[in-house]
Amino acid sequence: MSNQAAASSRAGDAGNDANNEDTPREFSMSDRDFERIRSVIKDVTGINMSDSKRQLVYRRLGSRLKATGIGSFQAYLDHIREGNPAELEQFTNAVTTNLTSFFRENHHFQFLEKTVLPEAVARAARGDKRLRIWSAGCSTGEEPYSIAITLRETLKDIAQWDAKVLCTDLDSDVIETCKAGIYSMQRVEKIPPERLRRWFKKGRGSDEERVKVSPQLRELLTFKQLNLMHDWPMKGRFHLIFCRNVIIYFDKPTQRVLIDRYADILADGGYLILGHSESLFNVSDRFKLIGNTIYRKTH
Ligand SMILES: C[S@@+](CC[C@H](N)C(=O)[O-])C[C@H]1O[C@@H](n2cnc3c(N)ncnc32)[C@H](O)[C@@H]1O
Repeated sequence: MSNQAAASSRAGDAGNDANNEDTPREFSMSDRDFERIRSVIKDVTGINMSDSKRQLVYRRLGSRLKATGIGSFQAYLDHIREGNPAELEQFTNAVTTNLTSFFRENHHFQFLEKTVLPEAVARAARGDKRLRIWSAGCSTGEEPYSIAITLRETLKDIAQWDAKVLCTDLDSDVIETCKAGIYSMQRVEKIPPERLRRWFKKGRGSDEERVKVSPQLRELLTFKQLNLMHDWPMKGRFHLIFCRNVIIYFDKPTQRVLIDRYADILADGGYLILGHSESLFNVSDRFKLIGNTIYRKTH
């Protein structure tokens, strides 16, 4: 499977054990191996692998053992620890869960249309046509392209704006898929036909079962592989950050640090949107809950 195909496949993977990934059974993973593996995963990605994720870790990294021809988890970890950046990247990509879809949790895109963009229009009337949105943990791109569709459909004069949607993810495969903007018909099947016709181009010949996003959407997006645990190169402030279904993988201390950094990089009164099962309860007092997993920065 190509890297991009692997990423598309993981985009539909809920990260539970009941999926169709090839399950290698020939390696043994001791308790000590699992402890070492989860410590490396935590160090490198911030992701906290609970005991219930043991089978998932076994499957995902068992595939790496197979691909590299390394015979044990212990030897594989030594290989990574010795400094093999290419395999460290594959390791990282293997342990991320990339489940996403277009207009997932649609109420967030309605909030963008009905609240964030009218506020941006009010700012524009005062001469400030800058708009910055960050899709942090964008996976294969369905989230930022849904944002771009909402921008294009709501702000008819967007060409006159300085508007950008920054798309970042730790996983290098998913960022490539995001950049390519090519999706199977299955991934766009829930998009209403009119919207689909307007913003996606159907492939021909061997690409008949795929669609490509319109350049009008793509030109609003910038892409960067970025580990949220590392330094961020962005200088300006954001008006809105989507960080949905990402912090659920981090423990509370890691969430606290990350959310504090989000508050710092948001403009005054900026918004942070989390996923349906995430919350800032016991994580940050710098935001006010103003909607369904929608937060406004207070200070
Ligand atoms: C479940 S997906 C969520 C995709 C999208 N935000 C959504 O809700 O549909 C979580 C994404 O977070 C990314 N991720 C996990 N840890 C990360 C980290 N430390 N830095 C950046 N991205 C990370 C994963 O690679 C994955 O693509």
